[in-house]
Amino acid sequence: MILVTGGTGYIGSHSVIELHNEGYDVLIVDNFVNSSPSVLKHLKTITGVDFNFLQVDLCDYEQLKDATKNYSIEGVIHFAAFKSVGESVDLPLKYYNNNIQSLTNVLKLCEEREISNIVFSSSCTVYGNPESIPVTESTPIGKAESPYGKTKVFSEEILKDFHKSSSKTICNLRYFNPIGAHESGLLGDYPDGKPNNLLPFVTQVAAGLREKLSVFGDDYNTKDGSCIRDYIHVVDLAKAHVNAIDYNKRNRKLYSVFNIGTGVGVSVFELLSTFEKVNKTPVKFEISKRRSGDVGAIYADCQNAAKKLNWKAKLNLEDMLSSAWNFQKKN
Ligand code: UFG
Repeated sequence: MILVTGGTGYIGSHSVIELHNEGYDVLIVDNFVNSSPSVLKHLKTITGVDFNFLQVDLCDYEQLKDATKNYSIEGVIHFAAFKSVGESVDLPLKYYNNNIQSLTNVLKLCEEREISNIVFSSSCTVYGNPESIPVTESTPIGKAESPYGKTKVFSEEILKDFHKSSSKTICNLRYFNPIGAHESGLLGDYPDGKPNNLLPFVTQVAAGLREKLSVFGDDYNTKDGSCIRDYIHVVDLAKAHVNAIDYNKRNRKLYSVFNIGTGVGVSVFELLSTFEKVNKTPVKFEISKRRSGDVGAIYADCQNAAKKLNWKAKLNLEDMLSSAWNFQKKN
């Protein structure tokens, strides 16, 4: 059985489905701080399975230990974390406390329960503003600007130290920009309040829920002046976690790091025009000033994941944008 922390969240819920599809039993832990109990219902509609679920605050070790004591756990995928860059600047202690304490508690559980297969959700944010692109896993990290980004850098350091002392098998996945939704339209990115990320904002403007999108800067040194990112379909990203669990099984006691993206850089303007074309829906926008902390351009070199994890993104930008729009319309 695989313990999935944050299993009702955006990436976690899609990963639960992929784990199930590949024959894994799943135990979901979440405290619904950034998700909803209705996700469990949707998971059942999609898979026909009532997944084991524990409502646990990962910052409370005794609660975690007690709740999980009757389950036989072979591996852990640790998704649960706060993830808003802007909020982390205003409330750094909230981020350091939650993201670091929940990680150390999950690792303590792995130590006590002899769980040796660990997969961690990191982010391309650890590369900060890279000197050259595409970034490989050996591009220097540690230049993350936001407290959120720093929690990912510190978490990676904690994992490396824990690996040295424990010989656990740890696979650290650095995600690029996950977007898109499950084909059912039941699961997707459902931000609370005003979206910070680009795609939820775009779909809300297209749906008439918001007046217009602000494009943060058109004066970057990129092909059209807007920022470039490596957008990856959340379903492809979810599948990478199953490959990571399997990779850990084949590579006992290894500590590994993989970029998980498509390897393709897409500008904000390209994303907008593709959205309008694919969904035949206009998106009103204005150019506004740069957002502080934004990196001009970043995308992944994913050869390592292709070679070793045997994983490659299969879905393209059109798939991402049509599924995101389908999800928005249904919700
Ligand atoms: N953008 C806009 N207008 C918006 C929102 C975003 O123009 O209203 C632009 C940004 O400037 C950026 C691009 O769209 O160029 C993507 O921005 P996001 O906020 O969606 O994502 P980021 O690249 O900033 O990445 C952040 C975190 C990552 C995390 C990722 C996805 O830094 O760690 O969100 O959650 F993985």
